[in-house]
Amino acid sequence: MSVKAPPRKRAAVANPEARKFLRKADPVLAQLIDARPDFRPRSWLDELPPLDAFGTLVFQVAGQQLSVASTRAIISHLEERFGGHMPSAAELLAADPQVLRDSGFSARKGETLRALAERFVDGRLDEKALSRMTDEEVEATLTEVPGGRSGRGVGSLASVPEPGGQLPVCVRIRRATVTAVGIIGAGRLGQAVARTALRAGRDLVIANSRGPDSHASVVSELGEGVSAGTAEEAAAAGIVVVAVPWDRVPEAVQGLDWNGRIVIDATNDWAADDLDGRTSSEIVAALVAGARVVKAANTLGADVLGSDPREAGGQRVIFVSGDDADAKTEVVALFQDAGFAAIDLGDLATGGEMQQIHHPLAGVNLIRL
Ligand SMILES: NC(=O)c1ccc[n+]([C@@H]2O[C@H](COP(=O)([O-])OP(=O)(O)OC[C@H]3O[C@@H](n4cnc5c(N)ncnc54)[C@H](OP(=O)(O)O)[C@@H]3O)[C@@H](O)[C@H]2O)c1
Repeated sequence: MSVKAPPRKRAAVANPEARKFLRKADPVLAQLIDARPDFRPRSWLDELPPLDAFGTLVFQVAGQQLSVASTRAIISHLEERFGGHMPSAAELLAADPQVLRDSGFSARKGETLRALAERFVDGRLDEKALSRMTDEEVEATLTEVPGGRSGRGVGSLASVPEPGGQLPVCVRIRRATVTAVGIIGAGRLGQAVARTALRAGRDLVIANSRGPDSHASVVSELGEGVSAGTAEEAAAAGIVVVAVPWDRVPEAVQGLDWNGRIVIDATNDWAADDLDGRTSSEIVAALVAGARVVKAANTLGADVLGSDPREAGGQRVIFVSGDDADAKTEVVALFQDAGFAAIDLGDLATGGEMQQIHHPLAGVNLIRL
């Protein structure tokens, strides 16, 4: 088992110098600091099992884009499935990959963990060697792992907690694998999504109903990285955004190959008298059978969506809902890479409804500070 790791020291109370500095910097923070004299910023580490280098990486992969509470829950499901302890690399590799899915890891995170486990088992990675490496060497070693490669501006830096402290290294784990976005609909919303995708560093194909030549000027105005294409070409991208008027959706998506695609439904059904108890995105999902639909980008006006989401010292909030966790991860990465703060509202039935016209989040423009 992987609990050779020594017990972790209890997290220390906040550094007095830092407290003094922050008290001075902000009167509201000063009140909070005074109210919590024994505050231990890393107390969340006390609730984790002892982690060796492999366990630490398992924890980091689990925690990508999730709250500490969700990560703890996944780690504790994993421990339950391995007799109450963190699995060693060999145990994880020997187990059915479904165990990872059942513990709450996405398919991609599961693949990354198994690739890491393989390297610990065959000796390409080991605790002692890692602790002797420089940050750059650790990054090079870990980013070679599938799913651990840094992509175009899409990595997130995370420091690795070590038993009793913090390893002086940073690990860059890739969040997004989809680098091409197709947009069906080159009107106000399609162009706003295009600006967002460009901010995120993605390549774009944008289509309308009249063919590529008809919106060449729109495309050239959007700039480098965008090309005008047919709906077929747009639908061939890893993420496809449907940005056409509600009554045009059936004809716009008909006859295209949706298998395995991630589809962002950015449409709004203003009349909403044809939904028959379903959310509009569930109807879109039925029209693009085989695709994984995420409702997003429909709650903000096109002018707001297309402008820089870093505003007033914070980030504009974007809501996402969908039934497929991996698809949501990619869509969240797209918007986060563009500078938005994403909030996951759950599945298409629950979250999708909150995002619809006449429902609480329609038209809501929030900045997360
Ligand atoms: N505008 C907003 O502020 C906003 C905000 C949130 C959500 N939305 C939603 O986004 C969707 C689009 O709204 P919009 O304001 O962008 O509309 P828009 O400016 O009228 O643009 C509609 C676009 O859809 C294209 N289109 C129509 N039928 C098509 C088809 N069969 N195949 C391919 N493309 C087709 C049109 O191309 P052609 O010109 O060649 O027909 C046009 O480029 C709507 O569902 C709307 O509710 C809009």
